[in-house]
Amino acid sequence: MRFVDIIEKKKNKKELTDEEIKFWIDGVTDESIPDYQTSALLMAIVLNGMTDHETAKLAECMMNSGDVIDLSDINGIKADKHSTGGVGDKTSLALGPIISACGLKLAKMSGRGLGHTGGTLDKLESIEGFNVFLKEEDFKKQVNEIGFAIIGQTGELVPADKKLYALRDVTATVDSIPLIASSIMSKKLASGSDTILLDVKYGEGAFMHTIEDAKKLANAMINIGKKLGKNTKAMITDMNQPLGNTIGNALEVKEAIETVKGNGPKDFTELVLTAGEIMLVQGKIAKNKNEARAMLEDAINSGKAFEQLKKMVEYQGGNVKQIEDPDLLPQAKFKTQMKSQKEGYIDNIHSMNLGILSMKLGGGREKKEDNINYAVGLEMKVKKGDKIKKDDILATVYHDEKLTDEWIESFYNTFSYSNEKTNPIPVVEEILE
Ligand code: URA
Repeated sequence: MRFVDIIEKKKNKKELTDEEIKFWIDGVTDESIPDYQTSALLMAIVLNGMTDHETAKLAECMMNSGDVIDLSDINGIKADKHSTGGVGDKTSLALGPIISACGLKLAKMSGRGLGHTGGTLDKLESIEGFNVFLKEEDFKKQVNEIGFAIIGQTGELVPADKKLYALRDVTATVDSIPLIASSIMSKKLASGSDTILLDVKYGEGAFMHTIEDAKKLANAMINIGKKLGKNTKAMITDMNQPLGNTIGNALEVKEAIETVKGNGPKDFTELVLTAGEIMLVQGKIAKNKNEARAMLEDAINSGKAFEQLKKMVEYQGGNVKQIEDPDLLPQAKFKTQMKSQKEGYIDNIHSMNLGILSMKLGGGREKKEDNINYAVGLEMKVKKGDKIKKDDILATVYHDEKLTDEWIESFYNTFSYSNEKTNPIPVVEEILE
């Protein structure tokens, strides 16, 4: 097989065969195909697309490019969820304790934050002593014993994706639905769970800016899951404003604790409960959504979910006292209340900008090797559609350094106002299966 013929075929909008896709991914993994040829094929895929069959085959070949985790030692159905990333997204921290209290197993591998989006591992590491690097056997033992664990990636999962993603980043070939779908799904499939729930976010702070594109991506991923025999569902959710009220590692842990105890913000609680409903039905713990919702609410109200959270922190070496009293989590030196300079209805909140502002306080990384300040971040006091008077508080900022004029100006540019009442938008737009 000559790789140049494969590039030629895709350039001419033809469907690649299974063998051609495998030849490509094997060649990416063992580096026998040079980057310039892969780049040419990537661009042809961006421009000419892939069929559902090609996309699923690409995901399968990528999954098989490295380790595939075998979770069969864990009893019962193993669930997984994945978010395409957003600002203030602490869903796994609250969802894990709640669904495991209902009897569903969650064996979750999470990532770190980069740029404007946070990462679950960084959030967990704001708890003193918390260990995200469990050995595979300890990870499985923990899931068997207490029902859930959240760790960093073990083994070498999907090396082909690492190579392809690095190339896509520098060749303007990131924004292609078949390439994004196969990249995300190859990693989910390699993580070994039985069911997958995808939280596909749309809006200004998300990868997909419109609901339509988010649905196309969700359908492409559901199609891959189905073709490879995994029960895969998706929620389309709003990222036109931060999820919940907090942005920043320890602040988000605190909000997740409140949510597990039933005192979380309305939008975040709704997203967590909707995700939980879908996952309990996927995992055959509940017969339908209503039954699932009752189980989830009972897990929260009875305190079982909170006990689960404490157990996980204890098993992974973290300081449980900080969960019992979140004021013991890292605290910033200063708290500044940012007052509105205008009045009107909040029309827009640029969530991506808030993510960047939190990063600039030290709460996120600009570069992979940067250190994180767990204590800093923002606590939002307003949502889209709220009526605001001048001097009402928009947010409390938690910081260790003096806020610069540039930071303050950027903060105020985050909000736009309208004289007309704007309707709040639902956090969960649609569920796709
Ligand atoms: N996230 C991924 O893992 N891959 C992509 O291609 C885009 C987002």
